[in-house]
Amino acid sequence: MKIAVLPGDGIGPEIVAQAVNVLQRLAQDGLKVEMEQAPIGGAGYDAAGDPLPESTLALAKASDAVLLGAVGGPQYDTLPRDKRPERGLLRIRKEMNLFANLRPALLYPELASASTLRPEVVAGLDLMIVRELTGDVYFGQPRGIEVRGGERVGFNTMLYAESEVRRVAHVAFGIAMKRGKKLCSVEKANVLECSELWKEVMIEVAKGYPEVALSHMYVDNAAMQLVRNPKQFDVIVTGNLFGDILSDEASMLTGSIGMLASASLDANNKGLYEPIHGSAPDIAGKNVANPLATILSVAMMLRYTLNQEAVAQRIERAVKKVLVQGLRTADIYTDGTQKVSCSEMGDAVVAAL
Ligand code: IPM
Ligand code: MG
Repeated sequence: MKIAVLPGDGIGPEIVAQAVNVLQRLAQDGLKVEMEQAPIGGAGYDAAGDPLPESTLALAKASDAVLLGAVGGPQYDTLPRDKRPERGLLRIRKEMNLFANLRPALLYPELASASTLRPEVVAGLDLMIVRELTGDVYFGQPRGIEVRGGERVGFNTMLYAESEVRRVAHVAFGIAMKRGKKLCSVEKANVLECSELWKEVMIEVAKGYPEVALSHMYVDNAAMQLVRNPKQFDVIVTGNLFGDILSDEASMLTGSIGMLASASLDANNKGLYEPIHGSAPDIAGKNVANPLATILSVAMMLRYTLNQEAVAQRIERAVKKVLVQGLRTADIYTDGTQKVSCSEMGDAVVAAL
């Protein structure tokens, strides 16, 4: 199995290095993996003048799975829009047709006190957000900034074809079938035609999954319900923009965005795996970042693309073990626990494996 390793920017290289150590440890036990690194984001721009160099995309397409760190940094913010690091990430998602983004929000009981919400609100939380990733206002045309009537206007197009809604709906229903059989579709159908169509297609697809209880919620209400009573949700399916926002919100229910992994899958379960947090330029190079989200992304890779459920669980147990041991990076540190660096955390997971 070939894995394209794209560390990216900021803390990306530090956290990816720990995930690579985990893969290498598993290789000692017989997991057949071959890894090759390539630059993306600002690193891609620095190396080849392009946030998604052609050779990086070719490597990603030729691999079974992609492991990505994070992209972005203040030094790239003034580049022309199509050279910015984020564009590299958006392009690789689109080019590889990774339309289904799975973002689990799981609260480890050991971290309940790290959440800003009361423990009884979040204890036992286990929800999955399925975010559509290659459509919506992120990619809709036309878009731009132009002069109209003597002033500048900025515009984007929120657009979904029914086929795009249908395929992500099938992924979400399939996941709901394997979990609690509850699916909540989040949109803004009281205002947006795009959401009206989204909702209609969800209802159509639901007919093929009679065991799944489908509900509908407007995104503003969903944002509120996520902090009021997050445990009411099992699986949430939503569009690209709403999913971007709600998945950041859901991550904080669990105490730290530094704990959450993600998978972005195409129609054949080929995928790109990345932590949901960003490149955190403020702490880059200091060896204090939390590598667990990236390590847990490797677990998702083994589960969804490489079909190695047992090995995925082995990684998840190792992560759980280091938390039980009381090891914490700065972002999840609380009184009475032991603060460790990024590499110490990675080493501890390897030792636990
Ligand atoms: C995410 C990020 C990206 C997005 C950015 C970096 C383009 O916020 O993966 O959630 O908006 O999708
Ligand atoms: Mg985001």
